[in-house]
Amino acid sequence: MHGKRSATRRYGIERREFLRYMAAVSAIPTIALRAEGQVTGKPRFNGNPFTLGVASGDPEPDGVVIWTRLATEPLAGGGMPGQPVSVQWEVATDEAFANVARKGTALAMPQLGHSVHVEVDGLEPHRWYFYRFHAGNETSPVGRTRTAPEPDAMPDRMRFAFTSCQHFESGYFNGYPHMQQEDLDLVVHLGDYIYEYKGLDNRPRKHIGSEIESLDDYRTRYSQYRLDTTLQETHRLFPWLVTWDDHEFDNNYANLVSEEEGVSPEEFLVRRMNAYQAYYEFMPLRRRSFPRGPHMTLYRGCRYGRLANFHVLDTRQYRTDQPNGDHQKPMTGKVFDPQATMLGPKQEHWLMSSLLQSTATWNVLAQQVMMAPLNRGEGEDRRYSMDQWPGYEVSRRRLLQFFHDRKIPNPVVLTGDIHVNWVNDLQLDFQKPQSPLVGTELVGTSMTSGGNGGNVIAEYERAAKQNDFVKWYNSNRGYVSCEVTPQEWTAHFRATPFVDRPGSPLVTKGAFVIEAGKPGAKSA
Ligand SMILES: [Fe+2]
Repeated sequence: MHGKRSATRRYGIERREFLRYMAAVSAIPTIALRAEGQVTGKPRFNGNPFTLGVASGDPEPDGVVIWTRLATEPLAGGGMPGQPVSVQWEVATDEAFANVARKGTALAMPQLGHSVHVEVDGLEPHRWYFYRFHAGNETSPVGRTRTAPEPDAMPDRMRFAFTSCQHFESGYFNGYPHMQQEDLDLVVHLGDYIYEYKGLDNRPRKHIGSEIESLDDYRTRYSQYRLDTTLQETHRLFPWLVTWDDHEFDNNYANLVSEEEGVSPEEFLVRRMNAYQAYYEFMPLRRRSFPRGPHMTLYRGCRYGRLANFHVLDTRQYRTDQPNGDHQKPMTGKVFDPQATMLGPKQEHWLMSSLLQSTATWNVLAQQVMMAPLNRGEGEDRRYSMDQWPGYEVSRRRLLQFFHDRKIPNPVVLTGDIHVNWVNDLQLDFQKPQSPLVGTELVGTSMTSGGNGGNVIAEYERAAKQNDFVKWYNSNRGYVSCEVTPQEWTAHFRATPFVDRPGSPLVTKGAFVIEAGKPGAKSA
């Protein structure tokens, strides 16, 4: 945690500096999509090239993205030849591949770390499929995935789990083996999938290497995480809908502004380009998210018929700098800057149009930082996190006012980042007790970040008591499992009592219900 340079004008930086940033951006070439060099159709590998497993994501009614990445030596640069490798893929309705629905060939290219993203289409809505890849004489594990329902269908229910914040050194991903046992249509990841910090001793596990900066650094870090079998297996079993937070790049960054002082724009943008490219390479994302230099469009929609519409947000890439020097501050000064933005104008406009066009019963915002204005101060000294929505109060109020004025059906905000659970009613105006509720916020705890958890955190205990909109708070590690029907939404807060060693049992610490048409959660 460092102080940040003072925020001014556009994107929180001086105009002169902004022009320097832009010059640096234009100097960075977009990754070449064209395959260069001889394609290897019959490659011979010095080991299993499918060490990183398979994954799928971004389901649509007619298809999903299926993913793999060839790497015989994932922790030592991949171990692959410096040329494109031809990969065959198959999607079947059965696990034995007797009934193949779609198949084809894709190129695993060295400039994308031999990752493969296939946008499979022509599939039937709302059903399970199995998929696998072949390269040379090798075959990948069989993945399982599920398409979304047709846009005008109203499914009886959908089930999904959401999680975030999986610091590898803080512990073992003990929630994932339990998540695998659940009957889920989808897994939603809200960011902090990796952490960028250097390896430290005397922790449950250790990062390889220093703080990550180069493309190779980021690739090795993602590989280290994905080699965790509990994580890899959860990708194999369900389609995922992912977004990032800050640690996929750099702690508490905002747009073009580094957390640390004295980082040149060139360094910062090259590092951001490396981080974004590695994220794309390792995630089951569609081509619409393909990175362009240090830019990558991650906000997008995902519809589950007329039941639920997921609006996936990116609250890091386009935000103005944290106001008032970041950290916990009173709601004053730059917090009310009308130019300040959490989403950036383009994403905000997209979100509002998506919400207006939505025909779904439940409008889900899958995003990063807490939206409810949690006062963590003592007595008259009210303090709010400047990194979260209350630091961008004009943006926050505009969105809640929009929910209210346009009568957006059942907004449910899913949040990660903060490493504890919260259940919050979202009030139009938190300073007026009689102000109407316009939505509900469910905050997932971390998978591992913060260590075992379950401890008393004085600041949060106080905050839970003094903020009337807080319905529940819990400091365990774990994930949230949701069952969504046309009538109600039930959230089960699953906890793993320890993460400092593998094999924790699972405890459901809380369950809350939201009734359709009635914002706010009640204990189930
Ligand atoms: Fe985190």
